Amino acid sequence: MRVELCCPCMFGLESILAFEVKKIGGEDVRVSDGKVTFCGDLSLVIKANLWLRTAERVQLVLGSFTAKSFTELFDQTVELPFEQFIGKSDAFPVKGWALNSQLHSVPDCQSIIKKAAVKRLEKCYGVSWFQETGAPRQIMFSILKDEVTIMLDTSGPGLHKRGYRQNSTEAPLKETLAAGIADLARVKADSFVCDPFCGSGTLLIEAALRALNIAPGIRRHFACEKWGVIPEQDWKTEREAAMDLIDRQAKFSAVGYDIDADAVELTKQNAMKAGVGVRIKTAQADIKQLNLSGENAILLCNPPYGERLLDKKQSMEIYRTMGTVMPVGLGKSYYIITPCEEFEQAFGRKANKRRKLFNGGIRCQLYSYFNLR
Ligand SMILES: C[S@@+](CC[C@H](N)C(=O)[O-])C[C@H]1O[C@@H](n2cnc3c(N)ncnc32)[C@H](O)[C@@H]1O
Repeated sequence: MRVELCCPCMFGLESILAFEVKKIGGEDVRVSDGKVTFCGDLSLVIKANLWLRTAERVQLVLGSFTAKSFTELFDQTVELPFEQFIGKSDAFPVKGWALNSQLHSVPDCQSIIKKAAVKRLEKCYGVSWFQETGAPRQIMFSILKDEVTIMLDTSGPGLHKRGYRQNSTEAPLKETLAAGIADLARVKADSFVCDPFCGSGTLLIEAALRALNIAPGIRRHFACEKWGVIPEQDWKTEREAAMDLIDRQAKFSAVGYDIDADAVELTKQNAMKAGVGVRIKTAQADIKQLNLSGENAILLCNPPYGERLLDKKQSMEIYRTMGTVMPVGLGKSYYIITPCEEFEQAFGRKANKRRKLFNGGIRCQLYSYFNLR
């Protein structure tokens, strides 16, 4: 069965996600703000959930249309083939969002879509009451400028939940964003990576997963595995293939430092859970002590912003210290994410590249320094 899939992502990561989608065999790839849409065989749902590092979830598109009234919304929703994926006793809750559209009341749209799905399924199954006791099929909708898209979520918990980070420090980076930064930094199988503000270790772990070609979803399960629509054996086969693709010979190694002993311990534990513990060394250290002696080091970090952690004055002092301990040297590259607009002045050097990224709701820049001589 040929399907259309839609993966939302963090703003700024669309082109990276589109590249990942092409790599797993997605066809007819289209990029728009905060999402990538593509087509493929139903079995692509497995690869998308297992392999996409920067996608927030994988949604199966049931249909798209224009609607400016509740009648138009109902009449077109009722035409969608819900019965292909929703059985007689399955639960099918509805949630979504609406933006810049005539249909702006989310609760009203939610109830219209639910009514239309019920009507469609009543007709298909010849029943008038749904117990909804089976595995949930989450119906999701988006309405943007009167364009409605109705989807089924195949992932369940967001794909950033890789299964390795049960605990985190106060201001952790989302795994999907950390994976995007590791991609922008071109972390490879033989890279040496350092994070001097490692917190719960997200950047180091995502860099390691990428370098060793470990599928980010290998340690978890996905909502649609319970649907019985894709054979269990296909999931097993893809998981086994993913295990075989791990690059165990990769020379990748990393080191994480943090001033906080608990954070250092957390990085260690999370790296073990992610199966990359042996690749990541950790130590408690202040940024002032950083000595990045090795050549070809890639430094990735998310220093305190002066918003959630420390105040602005303290964070500026940290950025000044970073400028003194991060040496200019052949092959070294630095990727620093912060919302601070004056970062470059404090650090003492203009970045080779700035890229807008969002960390949670915070508008940040990824300051990239490379080809340093
Ligand atoms: C924004 S958090 C990093 C979060 C991390 N990227 C993650 O995903 O969990 C900043 C970290 O910097 C650490 N830190 C603060 N001041 C520091 C200093 N002077 N030297 C080293 N680490 C410091 C904090 O303990 C905190 O864990």
